[in-house]
Amino acid sequence: MTTRKTQAELSDLHILYQNSVQEVEAEIDFVVATWKQLRQRQVCLLREDFCGTANTSCEWIRRNPVHQAIGVDMDAAVLEWGRKHNLGALTAEQQQRLSLLQDNVLNAELEPVDITLAMNFSYYLFLTRADLLAYFVSARNGLKVDGLLILDSYGGYEAPMELEEPRECDGFTYIWDQAKFNPINSEMDCHIHFEFDDGSRIEKAFSYHWRLWTLPEIQELLLEAGFSTATVYWEGTDEDDEEEGNGIYEPATEGDADAGWIAYIVAENN
Ligand SMILES: C[S@@+](CC[C@H](N)C(=O)[O-])C[C@H]1O[C@@H](n2cnc3c(N)ncnc32)[C@H](O)[C@@H]1O
Repeated sequence: MTTRKTQAELSDLHILYQNSVQEVEAEIDFVVATWKQLRQRQVCLLREDFCGTANTSCEWIRRNPVHQAIGVDMDAAVLEWGRKHNLGALTAEQQQRLSLLQDNVLNAELEPVDITLAMNFSYYLFLTRADLLAYFVSARNGLKVDGLLILDSYGGYEAPMELEEPRECDGFTYIWDQAKFNPINSEMDCHIHFEFDDGSRIEKAFSYHWRLWTLPEIQELLLEAGFSTATVYWEGTDEDDEEEGNGIYEPATEGDADAGWIAYIVAENN
């Protein structure tokens, strides 16, 4: 007798992650527009720290034939997946413009780049001020004189709460689980679970132990690392629904005390 596999058994974790967590087109739209606002020259080389499957780097490469990218991640298996599925979907010419490096972002020695990206809050994995400062210093050292470091961040009054937040995606439910928050050191355990219509579930598909950093802490550390600016780009409000964002991020010094927000931070080397 053959048993039919469940949807969970038939799924690929990285496909689920890319289809629920990442919005690489919107991310690269922001990067391209921000570079254009701040710099007058052609941008070329992007470094994606904590690149995982290098999905964002692939979008960068697809955008413009002069774009080049280097993805850095210390997990060989996730890089291999990215090489096969994401780089594999690029043309041979596009693949030539993208390289992947298995290394710790703190030690990776690369040629200076125009832009370094650290997305999906990956730098929250650094738990102490000293470690986050060391990362920002090394990121700055890896930039050209007029280079930019672009980060995302999240927060809001629900961010330190222990809760599960389900969201319907195409063919599955994504569940963001803030499992444990320690107010004494601001460290938390978060997981991503996936659930399917046939009732099957992938428990703890991805888990993170990280520190919920605040925007002033991040800005202060960027300036301490030597960046000349550390500007928060805050999302505007939808014209028809005040509860919703409009996807447009602008420099701001004042934001709303929302339940949950995502913001970009742009740090200029010089
Ligand atoms: C939260 S995931 C983010 C993946 C991807 N950047 C994204 O936007 O979805 C974190 C990734 O960072 C990698 N990572 C964690 N610490 C690292 C370090 N010190 N150096 C390089 N990669 C690291 C992990 O292997 C994992 O692929």
